[in-house]
Amino acid sequence: MYTPQKIVFSDNSDDETKSSSIASAHVAQQNGHSPHKHKKNHHHHSHGRHHHHDKDQSHQKSKKNQKSYAKIAEKLLVQRKGLPIYGAKEPLVGGIKSNSTVIVVGETGSGKTTQIPQFLLEAGFANESCGGIAVTQPRRVAAISIAKRVAEEVGTPLGGRVGYSVRFDDMSSEYTQIKYLTDGMLLREVLLDPMLKRYQVVVLDEAHERTLRTDILMGMLKQIQKRRADMIAKRRKDRRSGTGGNGAEHEKVTNLKIVVMSATLDAERFSKYFDNAPILYVAGRQHHVTVYNTLEPQPDYLDAANIVSTQVHLENPVDGGDVLVFLAGQDDIENMEKLIHETNSHLPENMAKMLPCPIFAALPTAQQAKVFQPAPPGFRKIVLATNIAETSVTIPGIRYVIDTGVHKVRDYDARVGVESLQVQPISKSSARQRTGRAGREAPGACYRLYMESSFQELDDDGIPEIKRCNLAMVVIQMKASGISDIMGFEYMDPPSKASLKNALLELYALAALDDHGHLTDLGRWMAEFPLEPSYSKVIYESQKQGCTKEAINIVSLLSVDSIFYIPNDKRDESMSAQKKFSHSDGDHLTYLNLLDAYIQANGDKDWCRDHFVNIRNMQHVLNVRKQLVGLCNRLNIDPNMSCGTSTDTVLKCFLAGFFHHCALLQPDNTYRTLNGSQTTYIHPGSSLFGKRPPAIFYDQLVFTNKLHARSVSAIDPSWIATAAPKLYGHFSKSLKN
Ligand code: CDP
Ligand code: MG
Repeated sequence: MYTPQKIVFSDNSDDETKSSSIASAHVAQQNGHSPHKHKKNHHHHSHGRHHHHDKDQSHQKSKKNQKSYAKIAEKLLVQRKGLPIYGAKEPLVGGIKSNSTVIVVGETGSGKTTQIPQFLLEAGFANESCGGIAVTQPRRVAAISIAKRVAEEVGTPLGGRVGYSVRFDDMSSEYTQIKYLTDGMLLREVLLDPMLKRYQVVVLDEAHERTLRTDILMGMLKQIQKRRADMIAKRRKDRRSGTGGNGAEHEKVTNLKIVVMSATLDAERFSKYFDNAPILYVAGRQHHVTVYNTLEPQPDYLDAANIVSTQVHLENPVDGGDVLVFLAGQDDIENMEKLIHETNSHLPENMAKMLPCPIFAALPTAQQAKVFQPAPPGFRKIVLATNIAETSVTIPGIRYVIDTGVHKVRDYDARVGVESLQVQPISKSSARQRTGRAGREAPGACYRLYMESSFQELDDDGIPEIKRCNLAMVVIQMKASGISDIMGFEYMDPPSKASLKNALLELYALAALDDHGHLTDLGRWMAEFPLEPSYSKVIYESQKQGCTKEAINIVSLLSVDSIFYIPNDKRDESMSAQKKFSHSDGDHLTYLNLLDAYIQANGDKDWCRDHFVNIRNMQHVLNVRKQLVGLCNRLNIDPNMSCGTSTDTVLKCFLAGFFHHCALLQPDNTYRTLNGSQTTYIHPGSSLFGKRPPAIFYDQLVFTNKLHARSVSAIDPSWIATAAPKLYGHFSKSLKN
């Protein structure tokens, strides 16, 4: 007999709806039918799709397609009209028409992201000659899933009138009028189209998240808006005075509209930054959510999350709503997936099971659909998400939220130039957003796996990313878009002088900037290559060293958090399986061995399981690799150039981009980073763990209980000076002492 563990919660909300919410859930069970509108609709799309795949006559097919697209759109219109934002259509469009910039504030789920671009489309803000509407998203998964949804609502195939563009994946065409793209991709488009002439409106969505790239875009868009207005004024003047002559041949340019959208109420700062732009509020429609806190601190939030999901699952009717669990990152999500499967195996056979549905940034696109689809009969969805589900994607059917109170954030210590990725407590504002996800369709419940007193200690808001990351990538892009004065740029929250200086120094050391701080030819090349400057440099260097194939492979392998998984109960087994691929020079070459073996095994599922290889991540790796190969082909770089067994060549090539990630062995067997003199240790998951090469370079530093270097390779210390003559040229002598 299975007796589940329990965690005791205090109910700290002063509301009476608690009992009624439970009661209504029970009613749903008695009826025996799922009352969810969304679920029904989702069934309908998949039917539609099946339908036209089965047709073989292509002509007939396209006609059928058009019909079924229209049908889906018609069905969705009913749903759209029920969104709170629908009633605000006129004032919203009016406000955007009569102001160059507006701030739109509305609760998550009110319809901002999916509807406002369509309102603008209907109002004539997109046409062939003057361009269309761009909508930025901080996360690629959000850009893709929202574009898919909106394409259905508009009733056209994805990549037609509605499309998306994210790094390594472009589903847009010259006909695309609403384009969802990551903020990073729009930044990249500025390089090629400095006045963003292909857009009449740019919508900066999720501005409250204050991502680095959205922050930079705000400053750039402000400049572009002004330059476009100046250009129009000048043309008008030229035309009047008869100078400039060939005015008719100019491409058409309209004024640039900027719409800044935020899910939180603190919009005054955005307004102030955009010269007191008006703020338009969209009323939300939020049901009551009862908040519970634990009475005790939880030593292990994963365990706690598993216990509470089970508790919620067992105590509530299976068709009364799904569960959304907020976790720190992919590794948490995958561990939790296993815990749930384990718990399922203990549930009585005739009882409904829990269906874990992960969603996180690196999840392969094909696997994302599951999260938006209703669970099959006999299952309850347990959505396992990072903070991606906080505001940027809305998953229908959620009634219960479990909040672990943590997220994974990048942190940057400008003093020592060290960037690290850490699990940290969320802010109050994030906790409230997470809670809100339970009340979108009906009254719900939120279980916080921390005490009420801990909630009170949380910061009000998160720190803007610009203040906590390495700025090299955006600085090189700013330089490439013609912003020469990086220090004097109008930031909403200026980063510290030290971190700007570090970024400039790094780019200088990489030879992307010259002695005057101007972009070099190499720098321009690096800015256009869609990777962090260090990786771009590696690819560039690989042409000279003749190891582009190996460089592309390793860069792709480094694009995921981890390639292996190490279950707690099979630690030794997993470690010894990994040893089969181990290369004595470290992780970069070990990964390469693994990729070869994986390809030989044809990515076989059983092979992956036997070797503790994370198949999901390997699929992502192969996708990135495919994209990089395509990119190299387009840039006339031979992606198959291989140095064969000359592994030193590969490491030297990496060092050309990673010399600022070197550390030297100390007499006490720790490592000291060259850049910033931090004490660090080789990560226990590394193939070099327990070994002591005199010098290493690493891909990143992560802080767990101490600072660990991850993805580490051993190098000859003398290579460092060769790789970075500008930084460490003088240092080759001192090394010998
Ligand atoms: O941007 P905001 O948070 O205001 O809302 P939205 O993303 O435009 O979502 C509006 C509504 O569309 C949601 O409440 C969902 O009901 C629906 N939606 C959906 O069903 N499936 C999606 N992939 C996206 C949105
Ligand atoms: Mg949104």
